[in-house]
Amino acid sequence: MKAAVLHERDGVPRYEDFPDPVAGEGEVVVEVVAVAVENVDRAVAAGTHFAGRAMMPELPAIPCFDGIGTLPDGRLVGFGNPRPPYGALAERTVVAEGAYAPIPEGLDPAAATVLPSAITGMSMKIAAGLAPGESVLIQGATGVAGRLAVQVARLLGAGKVVATGRDDEQLRGLGADEVINTTLSDEDLLQAFKAARTDVVVDFLWGRPTEILLRAMVPDTFAFPKPLRLVQIGEVAGADLRLPAESLRTSGVEIYGAAKGLGPETMGAAYGQVVEWAQAGKLTFGLERVPLRDIEAAWQRTDLRGTRLVVEP
Ligand SMILES: NC(=O)c1ccc[n+]([C@@H]2O[C@H](COP(=O)([O-])OP(=O)(O)OC[C@H]3O[C@@H](n4cnc5c(N)ncnc54)[C@H](OP(=O)(O)O)[C@@H]3O)[C@@H](O)[C@H]2O)c1
Repeated sequence: MKAAVLHERDGVPRYEDFPDPVAGEGEVVVEVVAVAVENVDRAVAAGTHFAGRAMMPELPAIPCFDGIGTLPDGRLVGFGNPRPPYGALAERTVVAEGAYAPIPEGLDPAAATVLPSAITGMSMKIAAGLAPGESVLIQGATGVAGRLAVQVARLLGAGKVVATGRDDEQLRGLGADEVINTTLSDEDLLQAFKAARTDVVVDFLWGRPTEILLRAMVPDTFAFPKPLRLVQIGEVAGADLRLPAESLRTSGVEIYGAAKGLGPETMGAAYGQVVEWAQAGKLTFGLERVPLRDIEAAWQRTDLRGTRLVVEP
């Protein structure tokens, strides 16, 4: 079969022949229909993701660990965790029996690959308990997951929605009530965060912008405000930040991981909800379809701002 094959860590996968997967006991071969290529896939391929070694213990291997495909009985499913060295970026892959869920009828497989990114936005409710009318700040709102999170906030009945990013033009198109450009000077950004204070933050950035945001939560007086609930999802602006003790002590900030509250049941319900919104046209997103044979160039693209790269073998 044809596959995108990675030969070296941090290299670029090449479109080549690779031995067909053979299902072992308790496994099934899936014909791949569509695969979204995300930052996490590049981090796994580069060996910088915490689960990277488990997902890709040896090279050569095929990147990407989930996608949409058809089972031998013709059912269209979303599958996950192929057995290494097999990954999703191939004509066929192999997964454990049951490591898949049905894709609802009428849903475009390419669109179905993007919807899990909307589940990150659902963490504002699942992890942080967002109540209707509460305000939300999306930290890093111009990416695919960020744009979806702005829409999810609205659909969950949030009051004020604040979007942050690095480009004024991109920010203006997001439909948020307020925007903050994180390229402001440290002091100006601090003041902007103080002025825009919200109940919940959905954080795709970490690093400098979120460090300043957490500092902005320190009150100016002993009148302690309602605690901010921050959900940590991504780290595109930095893997670490400095958290001064007074920031935590005085602001009462609560920090959750995006995985908080996620299990098969909440995940299933969240997926069902985002599918329903997408099918009703309430959740929109950009996707760029490319054939598998173009993977080498597609993998290296940096122009797809806010648009998901979807490979269709
Ligand atoms: N945990 C999960 O389940 C899950 C699921 C999906 C995504 N994520 C994570 O969420 C993050 C966003 O994912 P995505 O798919 O939406 O990515 P994406 O579409 O590539 O968007 C990246 C976003 O990060 C911003 N950005 C990049 N480098 C930055 C920097 N140095 N400083 C500030 N902003 C920067 C971009 O802003 P510009 O528009 O200005 O370039 C853009 O808004 C990633 O860390 C991803 O791994 C996690």
